[in-house]
Amino acid sequence: MGATGNLGSRVIRELLKQGAIATDIIASTRHPEKASELAQRGVEVRRADYEDPQSLKEAFLGTDVLLLIPSSAPVEPRIQQHFNALEAAKQSKVGRVLLTSILAATSTSKFLITPFTLYSESKLCSSGLEWTILRNCLYLDPVAQWVPKLIQMGYLPYPVKKGRVAYISRDDLARALAAACLGSDRSGQIYQLTGNKSLSMPELAQTISQVTGKHCEFKSVSEDEFADICRADNLPELMIEVLTSMYRAVDNEEFDIVTDHVERLTGTPPESVESYLRRTWRDIYSRSQESGVRSQE
Ligand SMILES: NC(=O)c1ccc[n+]([C@@H]2O[C@H](COP(=O)([O-])OP(=O)(O)OC[C@H]3O[C@@H](n4cnc5c(N)ncnc54)[C@H](OP(=O)(O)O)[C@@H]3O)[C@@H](O)[C@H]2O)c1
Repeated sequence: MGATGNLGSRVIRELLKQGAIATDIIASTRHPEKASELAQRGVEVRRADYEDPQSLKEAFLGTDVLLLIPSSAPVEPRIQQHFNALEAAKQSKVGRVLLTSILAATSTSKFLITPFTLYSESKLCSSGLEWTILRNCLYLDPVAQWVPKLIQMGYLPYPVKKGRVAYISRDDLARALAAACLGSDRSGQIYQLTGNKSLSMPELAQTISQVTGKHCEFKSVSEDEFADICRADNLPELMIEVLTSMYRAVDNEEFDIVTDHVERLTGTPPESVESYLRRTWRDIYSRSQESGVRSQE
């Protein structure tokens, strides 16, 4: 599920790269027309909507390994979506379910999405299905997307005082998720997929400066100031609330975890923040000059 999204499309590319046969892969989406390129490569495309239990049941028929990438719906509907997905997985006799979760999956988390994460993880573990859970750290990609704006402002404004984050790119997450799908001995495992180093926000700003050659220093802003910056970028209020809580979780040290689980799954360590930014920022910057400076999401 989520095959057409930023993460899911990378997972399918990785599955093919890691030796899966296209005709063994099923890409599920609400909009099959969005996956026409995959269909041309031989991947089977099925229509499935987390909100439509019958579509899930039909889409999961004959599936050995099911990767659930959640939608970005608000918490309560997302909980219902995963209830639907797990019921359908049971009815369709799916062999093993992999769930992409997030590191802040603890009952004391400050992240607003956590009630969904706790529900979906525990519901999966008690479902009787074979399971693997992959808890992601924060994506590095949105930081890179924000670089043009940061260069323009001259500072990195997050409502963080002391928190550190082991950022990881969607490319590395996709490699790990594909490997977890293809590996046969991953059942009952919880993986924490993180970058190879945890950075403080001043260190992140310094890395952006070094890579771009432009001045960028970290400025710890209040939640209200951060919300105003997000509003100026036209982010919806709900997203702003979620992001603000995410930075509360950062200060609560929920993303300050470094593991070797990406390397354990794939044989290769994740790319450093510096290397990823060097690889991506010029393209992002050029595109932003053509279409106006991009926002952080
Ligand atoms: N770790 C982090 O820092 C971080 C940051 C942002 C997001 N996330 C989470 O990571 C997950 C995926 O990220 P992403 O970047 O791939 O997001 P994305 O690009 O927005 O993709 C979301 C996917 O969800 C699917 N979807 C949405 N509503 C659906 C529904 N009702 N039924 C079935 N599919 C539905 C969409 O498919 P169709 O439209 O084709 O159906 C799309 O493939 C999300 O859960 C998101 O909340 C994590």
